[in-house]
Amino acid sequence: MRVIPTGETLGATIEGLDLARPFSDDEFEGVVRALGERGVVRFPGQTLTGRQLADFSARFGELEINVANTHQEPGIPEVMILSNIVEDGKAIGLADAGQDWHTDMSYSSTIAFANVLYGIKIPRRAGQSLGATEFSNMHAAYDGLPAEMKRDLEGMTVLHDFNKFWEMMRREKGSKRPPLSDAQKKAKPPVSHPVFLTHPITGRRVLYANPGYAVRINELPQKESAQTLAFLFQHQLKAEYRYAFHWEERDVLMWEDIGTIHNAVADYGPHEHRLIKRCQVMATRFQPEEE
Ligand code: SIN
Repeated sequence: MRVIPTGETLGATIEGLDLARPFSDDEFEGVVRALGERGVVRFPGQTLTGRQLADFSARFGELEINVANTHQEPGIPEVMILSNIVEDGKAIGLADAGQDWHTDMSYSSTIAFANVLYGIKIPRRAGQSLGATEFSNMHAAYDGLPAEMKRDLEGMTVLHDFNKFWEMMRREKGSKRPPLSDAQKKAKPPVSHPVFLTHPITGRRVLYANPGYAVRINELPQKESAQTLAFLFQHQLKAEYRYAFHWEERDVLMWEDIGTIHNAVADYGPHEHRLIKRCQVMATRFQPEEE
């Protein structure tokens, strides 16, 4: 197994691992180390069934069955299908997953540790791969905050709401998603997490807030909360913290969600087909420290 860093703020390619086969504890440790150091890792040239994708992902923690997931791999609800392909008038996947900056499952009391995506069909135009996944580095964003802000926000908590991203997709992006049902909202009520967490792999502080789901800093008056969140959202997307991943078919892309935020770039049309299978790994094996 060889880890080749991108040379950018995030990202590495891991060669020499076939994710369809069980791998050793040493290899597992190597992947975890690379995830901590690089945040986002790519395993090129994989051939996986949905079951194998789920088995690989489950090494890192329990898998989430998404509350709004209407597009699952048959018989394997932990594998979600993200796609703009329509067959016989029926969408085979969720077409607009993740198309703005967010962290998966920050709206959940057990947050996400990692996402594992398998690229099956990747749109291309004029030789260029489309539908990149962009990331921003929340270790670097924390390090780059003004010292007084780190001090003042220490110990404060942020409220995260699943419905914020869902409604934004409907309102601003023309998404055809129906509104969340009362049952779906009840299954995922807004939850609070500390604004800074200690990362379970690196032991370093990270900024844990994201434009997709963060709605309020609980300990601040409404106006100050809104101003502080607006500052954090702008700060965490500075160019120097960012990295764009350009897909090739049969890539498996894994990223850790505690020290990164991400955005799926919607630069392809309805006839430029994208098909990705995704597992979300919860922070049950790797848990952040809140202190
Ligand atoms: C996601 O937010 O998990 C989806 C990312 C992508 O489709 O590139």
